[in-house]
Amino acid sequence: MRPEIVAHRGASEHRAEHTRAAYELALHQGADGLECDIRLTRDGHLVCVHDRKVDRTSTGRGVVSTLTLDRLNQLDFGQWHHELPESADDLIHEPLAQPSAEQHERGLLTLEDLLGLLKDTPRPVKLFVETKHPVRYTGLVEAKLIAQLRRHGLSAPASKEESRVVVMSFSRLAVRRVRQHAPQLPTVLLLDRLPTTMRSGEMPDWADITGPGIHLLREHPDYVARCAEQGRDTYCWTVDEPADIDLCRRAGVRYLATNAPAHTRRHLDSGPSATVGQALPGE
Ligand code: G3P
Ligand code: CA
Repeated sequence: MRPEIVAHRGASEHRAEHTRAAYELALHQGADGLECDIRLTRDGHLVCVHDRKVDRTSTGRGVVSTLTLDRLNQLDFGQWHHELPESADDLIHEPLAQPSAEQHERGLLTLEDLLGLLKDTPRPVKLFVETKHPVRYTGLVEAKLIAQLRRHGLSAPASKEESRVVVMSFSRLAVRRVRQHAPQLPTVLLLDRLPTTMRSGEMPDWADITGPGIHLLREHPDYVARCAEQGRDTYCWTVDEPADIDLCRRAGVRYLATNAPAHTRRHLDSGPSATVGQALPGE
């Protein structure tokens, strides 16, 4: 089965990560899922920002948890990133220095904005929400997340398979908290190393899906099959190189997180079952 394509921080190779423009492009390119990182602002809003500080990705400076939503809304989160066109031909016609996305597509994206985008998407796209730790607010991040999902009717899906939202973290405590307070939500335990005790494919019962980095699968390609034997799907991040995409497909990865959804899809579709000459949206 072809892996499902999850747009990592949106289509972040071609648009600034975590901006509305990045997620709109990912949806336009037919991504099956969207990934985002969330953090709490000083005044208690969940916002989509990867780093502890806004320095790398915005025109501002400072730690997210010490800034208010109003302050963050004044920043431009798109300017730092060249909005790469989709192909070399487009590059000739589209100057790199001018961001094409409108200001409202380059500003701070809140989780509320992203849930709105999800709601407006007619396809059943899944949202993979990662909570970052350690943070000063500890468990308040998961508590606020679950409360917000509940307000949107997304915290208690009929089944895990049908859930529109999947919650992930590298923090075992965070994943356990989610299981405890929203037992019907599917969870991913993200892994940047593979402890010997988990190599058999066994997982703690509070995590539904295993989430290795691609570096782990290069070293342990059989890990995916061992997890499947235990009834666990695999979510693998962050997969952009053709050889890695092939590895994920061969290994049986269910969810593949990539910064370049269109390129990854094109590569997957060029496999044995590809439709020759199939065009991608936007091409
Ligand atoms: O999707 C999981 C992956 O995003 C984890 O790493 O640093 O990109 O959040 P990071
Ligand atoms: Ca992430």
